[in-house]
This record gives sequence, C-alpha cells and structure tokens, in this order.
Amino acid sequence: MTSVLFVCLGNICRSPTAEAVFTKKAKDEGLNLSIDSAGTAGYHIGASPDPRSEHAAAKRGYDLSQLVSRQVDEQDFVDFDYILAMDKANLLDLQSLCPSEHQHKISLFLSHGQSSHDEVPDPYYGGDKGFEFVLDLVEDASVGLIQTIRKSTE
Ligand code: 4NP
Repeated sequence: MTSVLFVCLGNICRSPTAEAVFTKKAKDEGLNLSIDSAGTAGYHIGASPDPRSEHAAAKRGYDLSQLVSRQVDEQDFVDFDYILAMDKANLLDLQSLCPSEHQHKISLFLSHGQSSHDEVPDPYYGGDKGFEFVLDLVEDASVGLIQTIRKSTE
C-alpha cells in the first residue's frame, strides 16, 4: 500500500491538519493509502493537536481529535513512500536526517498543488486567519498530491 507522511515542526498544527484533510480526500477518491504525520521537533510528543487547528478543521468537516503528536524517526524514511515537508526548514531537517537511498521520497507538500506559495506558514504564534490559510493551502495541495500518486501508479 502506498504510504504518505506529513511533516511539520511540532506535529500539532500543520501536519495533523494535512493528515486529516488528505485522509478525507483520499477516502472520498476511493484511494486506499497509509497516512500519518510527525514533527521534526519533539516538543509536543504525546500531545493532541492545537485546539485552534482542531476547531478550524472541524468547521470544514475534518476530524483531528484522535491524532497524537510524535517525532520523525529513522524508520519513517524506510516505511513511507512520500514524505511531505510543510516548509523549507522542515525540508532541510528531513534531508539532513534521511539516508541517501530515500532522499527521493522527500518533497515540499505545496510543490504538488496549484498555489503560488511554496510553504505552509507556521500558524502557531498568529491569529485565527493563519489556521484558515493553512487549511486553504493544505486542501489545494492534497488534491494535487492525489493526482501525483495516481499518476505514479498508472
Ligand atoms: P506546527 O506548529 O509545526 O505546525 O505543529 C508549531 C507548533 C508548536 C511550535 C511551533 C510550531 N512550538 O514552538 O512549540
């Protein structure tokens, strides 16, 4: 089964949002994928998603309530086919941790979408608009990533 890992810094805002949005969109498209998320940092290991992310996502029909933060580990580079970084700092951190034979699995999540943005900005220290913007970007890139995966399995 094709597997997808979304990665941000804390795994409480952006990547859990991406996990929930992409899980719903993949299911709606009839795609059976293994989907997870993780953080490059360990600050929030074991924590639930940020309530602001959970609330903003719930208003659009996405459920983050069961997700628990974890940190990326070496086995992730073996286990996952697609490893999607939310921003360039996450990308660099992943590239520096990843063995050379798995580097091709790593990309910026927004490189799969239509948006002119290439990073999902960290909403943690900002207001509600930041969480809505994360959802806008994540919804767009999720549609594109589904196309990327479909093409690769044709
Ligand atoms: P995330 O957001 O990487 O989208 O989960 C953040 C969450 C927590 C922190 C930074 C970003 N923090 O510094 O604790």
